[in-house]
Amino acid sequence: MAAKKKRVVSGMRTTGKLHLGHYHGVLTNWLKLQDDYDCYFFAADWHALTSEYQNPAIVKESTRDIFIDWLSVGIDPEKATLFIQSQIKEHAELHLLLSMITPLPWLLRNPTYKDSQVVGQGEEQATYGFLGYPVLQAADIIIYMANLVPIGVDQLPHVELTREITRRFNYLYGDTFPIPEPILTELSKVTGLDGRKMSKSYNNAIHLSDDEETLKNKVASMVTDVQRARRKDPGDPEKCNLFPLHPLYSQPEEIAEICSACPRAEIGCVDCKKILLRNLIRGLAPVHERQSYYQNHPQLLDDIIADGTEKALAITRETMLKVRAAVKLS
Ligand code: TRP
Ligand code: SF4
Repeated sequence: MAAKKKRVVSGMRTTGKLHLGHYHGVLTNWLKLQDDYDCYFFAADWHALTSEYQNPAIVKESTRDIFIDWLSVGIDPEKATLFIQSQIKEHAELHLLLSMITPLPWLLRNPTYKDSQVVGQGEEQATYGFLGYPVLQAADIIIYMANLVPIGVDQLPHVELTREITRRFNYLYGDTFPIPEPILTELSKVTGLDGRKMSKSYNNAIHLSDDEETLKNKVASMVTDVQRARRKDPGDPEKCNLFPLHPLYSQPEEIAEICSACPRAEIGCVDCKKILLRNLIRGLAPVHERQSYYQNHPQLLDDIIADGTEKALAITRETMLKVRAAVKLS
């Protein structure tokens, strides 16, 4: 008999549309994982509310968009279980119970909280929910008896906290949960239009759903090699903000040509951008096609979510029976 697949759990906050940074970082990683592991991927809409509680409409809209984007890049509901966090109320119950055993200092020294703008910025921003963010994340993970958690480095302290909280639960109430391990997602080399990290908050992202006109304007506005001020100046693809997109979308011959011509000023950035734009449009075409397919078939999307919800519920209900028994609440 084949060994039981290890279980993978990860979530994505639903605070806006997905961009190429998500695609070439998180999602390409999920695509690999779904082939080899028992994967649970969810839209973390409760976590989104920790920062967007004044804009719940954005959270709602993004949740649907994010699902469409996942499916459009090839996340496969036949391989991975896909669901929405807030539809599985068991996460909230486990979060409550974990909050009883999580010492406050553990949360106060969490870098996300400690270094955040909200501390000292007025009580209205520094909410109870924001402080407890990693406790909810711990519940999200261990409620599935997860073994592995794919995350970016920024999330490492949260998974560390998950491990500590889980150990404490097991110590207090008897071995109940496996201790999950993080798998670090390789950082995407794709940066934003302005050369900073591609991020919603910098307003410098190329979205998976950008149409041709938008792609054209965004590529045109992209910062390239800042040392290359004039057309006749030699450039350096290694220092160019746009170049990392070429290996993801352009042909090997085109890339070789750019690498040899750019340092000799034989190609200008305008032409290089034209090549990229053409390839970007072609590369994203199948994604766009699937996006409009799902936009036009809302029932199909609802069915996929309902199916994932059912699978997630089957597991979380069982876990909560064990948890309630362990804490003598049954
Ligand atoms: N905090 C994660 C992020 O901002 C999202 C998240 C919520 C998550 N719950 C999770 C990730 C559980 C992994 C596992 O990216
Ligand atoms: Fe970058 Fe291309 Fe301009 Fe060279 S020619 S600096 S690789 S955009």
